[in-house]
Formats: sequence, C-alpha cells, structure tokens
Amino acid sequence: MSMIDTEAFLRDLHELRKIGQFRTGVHRPTFSPQDMESRHWLIDRLTACGLQASIDGIGNVYGRHKGSGPHLLCGSHIESQNEAGWLDGALGVLAAVALARAGLPVDVCAFADEEGHFDGGFLGSRSIIGELSEDEIDRSRNRTDGTPLRDALRTAGLDGRPRMRLEAGRHKGFFEMHIEQGTQLEQGNLRIGVVTGIVAIWQWRLKVQGQQDHAGGTTMQERKDAGLTAVRLLAAIDAEFPRIAGERSTWTTGRITLDPGAPNIIPGTAEILFQFRDVSMPALERMEATLRALVREANRRERCTVSLVAVSKAIPALCDPAMMQALSAAAEQLVSDGWQMMPSGAGHDAQNIARHMPAAMLFVPSIGGISHHWAEDTSDADLALGIQVLDNAARRFLAV
Ligand code: GLV
Ligand code: MN
Ligand code: MN
Repeated sequence: MSMIDTEAFLRDLHELRKIGQFRTGVHRPTFSPQDMESRHWLIDRLTACGLQASIDGIGNVYGRHKGSGPHLLCGSHIESQNEAGWLDGALGVLAAVALARAGLPVDVCAFADEEGHFDGGFLGSRSIIGELSEDEIDRSRNRTDGTPLRDALRTAGLDGRPRMRLEAGRHKGFFEMHIEQGTQLEQGNLRIGVVTGIVAIWQWRLKVQGQQDHAGGTTMQERKDAGLTAVRLLAAIDAEFPRIAGERSTWTTGRITLDPGAPNIIPGTAEILFQFRDVSMPALERMEATLRALVREANRRERCTVSLVAVSKAIPALCDPAMMQALSAAAEQLVSDGWQMMPSGAGHDAQNIARHMPAAMLFVPSIGGISHHWAEDTSDADLALGIQVLDNAARRFLAV
C-alpha cells in the first residue's frame, strides 16, 4: 500500500523550480548563490521529513534516516546546467524526499556537481565513494569562468568542512529516478523506462596553435589559421567515428573558442571541448584510439599544432539485476504495456555509486526529448506515475 503524498512531491518540485528560475527552467550552476540557496532549502525539507540533514565539504546534501535498517540510498543532483531544465537531477532528489516522507528507510543524497561545471564533474558522487582526491580539488576550475574550485568552495562557505563517505554496509542499494532526456519513451507511447546500464562520458580539450595575423595582408598560402585546422579535424572525426564507434555511441563538440575571435583577424588559437559516450568500454577505447590517430594525422598535415588533453574519463555501469527486477515488477503492476527496459544515454551519479552498492534507475518521459535546455518538461501525470513505481519497487526490493 503506497503512502506517497503525490501532491507534496509535485509541490516540492515546483517550489524548487522557483530557485534560480530561468524562463520555464532554472539557472543553478554549481556553488552559485542560487545553487547554495537550493541546497539550504533542501536541508530544511529533509529536516521537516524527520531526517538528520547535513552538507559536506564538497556540497553534498545528505538526509540520514534515524531509524533502523535495512536502508536504501536515493537521490541525484540539484544543480543544473546553465539556463537549463527544472527536472534534470531535481526529480531524483525530490523523489527520494517523497519516499522518506512516506516512511521508507531511505537516506537522501543530493550529490554536488553532477553536471560538471568544474573539471572532472560528478564531484559529489565521486567524493562520497572516495574517488576525488584533494589534489584534484586543488587543480579543478570552473569550465565557464575559470574560477578555481577551492575559491568557489570558500565563497559558498564549504571550505574546511569534512567530506562525507558512504557508510560501509549501511545500504541495500541506490535508486535514482530521472527524466529520460531522449525520445524513446515518448515515441513508443511508453511512460516508464527501467534502465539497464549507464553510459560513460569521456571529455577532451583540444588546443590548436596557429598564428594570429591580418585577415587581408596575410595570403592564404602564408597563414596558420587555427580555426580552419579545428573544423577540418572535427569533420575528420565525424567522418571516421561511425566506422569504429558502437551502435549507440554519441560524440559532441560543445564548444569551439577562437582567439581573439574578431572578423578581421586570423585566429591564432582554437580551443575545442569534445566528448563521446558509450556503455561499452571497448567502444570507448576505440574512439579514444581513433581520436588520437586523427590528432597525429592533423599534426602531420596541418600548419598548426594540435594538442589533446583528457579532461575526464568516467566508467560505464550496469544496473543491478534484483533492483531492475523490482522496478520491472512495479512497472508491470502499475502500467503494464506502458514500460520498457532501456540504456541511459546520459551520465548519472548512479554510475559511480554502482561501484559500491547495487544501483538502478527509473526513467520518466521527457516531452519532445528536450533536456539541457530551459524548455525541458515532463507532465505531472508522468511524474506522479514515476514516483508510484519507484515507491512500489523500493518496497519490493526492501522485502527480498
Ligand atoms: C549529464 O548531465 C549528462 O550530460 O549526461
Ligand atoms: Mn541529471
Ligand atoms: Mn544533466
């Protein structure tokens, strides 16, 4: 029998949506004033649900269940991409709050910087499993404005706080509810996705060194145009990757910066932020080998010099069979014919937590598949069904 208060769950989501509101979405980059306001708002919510709430030295907000176990860990993240959607991350955190409010033995966690505003990304979920070193914190910078992570932590009032670690043996498993961020469910007229595995994201920074010069005085034969070398290399990657990548591999150039970036000046340098994703380690390794080969080739062929730096290389994860079974049985009971098993094309904190305990994820549809954009949305009916399925599955898994 479900004790979920669906109205309170939706009310929480819409209240959090107001913090850092941007059009119909939110702007809550990690450790910004809006992000910190949302973390403190969450601490109040957790306390109101009877959990022992705290925030740690990397910004993880944790609500600890005070009663006896076995316990579940549930959550996601509450910062957003810049000017992006209101549900990416917030949904999983407030779903966890809804379970706690219904009396389930759940610890709630909002992991910091899943969205990778700082180099490395997944700061909170990597920190809690002991895979974020002090040295990495020293080196990491904000990808938008270059602020050192140490400075951002100080401004946010988090420096000097200890970083929490998972308590060995405390949790039976980790559930993360999330929006799909794609169109598979919507196109299939389905309402629930039981996630089978989560892609790893490998991020790269490419620097092209050319020669800044006059756009008219310098002949085409003389110039070293970093911008042209960059786009030729990216076109070569796009031509070569389909031959070696996996069936569902994706690759994205999210940013190209030309310096100095003026119409009358040949760009002296170009910086490219590039990433690829897959659930298969061999596919990821093939893409890395091909990327390196294409950079070597560019350095032979071009007048500019290209260098390649790995920014982060996450590890793909498979979801736990018993937890997937609980989610499937719950979906079958509540929406038979309306659900499917599916891989996750997005990265999630669950992929890190999965290395330390059984973990699984539940997807609800994204309208039009849109995410990492302020127009991201999901119907209240789908959000409400999702929390019922999660509650049902959590009870089943606790009982086995
Ligand atoms: C996480 O936000 C991702 O980009 O997959
Ligand atoms: Mn997310
Ligand atoms: Mn995201």
